[in-house]
Amino acid sequence: MSEEFKFNDENLAKAKEIIARYPEGRQQSAVLPLLDIAQRQNDGHASEAVIEAVATMLDMPRIRVTEVATFYTMISTTPVGKYHLQCCTTTPCWLRGSADVVDAIRKHLGIDFGETTQDGLFSMLEVECLGGCVNAPIVQVNDDFYEDLDAASVVKMLEAFKAGTPPEPGTQIERQTSAPAGKITTLQDLEFAKG
Ligand code: FES
Repeated sequence: MSEEFKFNDENLAKAKEIIARYPEGRQQSAVLPLLDIAQRQNDGHASEAVIEAVATMLDMPRIRVTEVATFYTMISTTPVGKYHLQCCTTTPCWLRGSADVVDAIRKHLGIDFGETTQDGLFSMLEVECLGGCVNAPIVQVNDDFYEDLDAASVVKMLEAFKAGTPPEPGTQIERQTSAPAGKITTLQDLEFAKG
């Protein structure tokens, strides 16, 4: 293990606050939030040094922290690009065209699942249901959901990221949050429905 990782002051304080939430003897329950904090500090990568730092802080064997880090797709044990595209391909997203979305990303960026573009901007990962099926298909980019995508809109989204002007997260079609697609057809006189 060549690189080093040390929690910065802000994250160290956050980690201590999280650990203190658990009863005496149960501090290891903080492993996931600590991995998340450390990964964010380390450009989205839960490296071996990150795992070591979390294991030391929680007095856990490194293998136990590694087991957690490799189980959850939200923790990345390999380096990722600036924009981490997590493509949901579970049944509801698949029924709504996730295969086309994934193909469009592959073609546009020239990468496949688990790979990063040469300029370090994009990584791509296949994930299971992100819990946003109502607006399927979904691609999560870092912390944000991009919803109701198709081949054309996902390419537009990638170009916007490339240009340094990330698009608004959420639905990419005409839809009010998770309401039925298109303009409202009932209750049109209600004030809250007009926005
Ligand atoms: S199946 Fe894709 S968000 Fe649920």
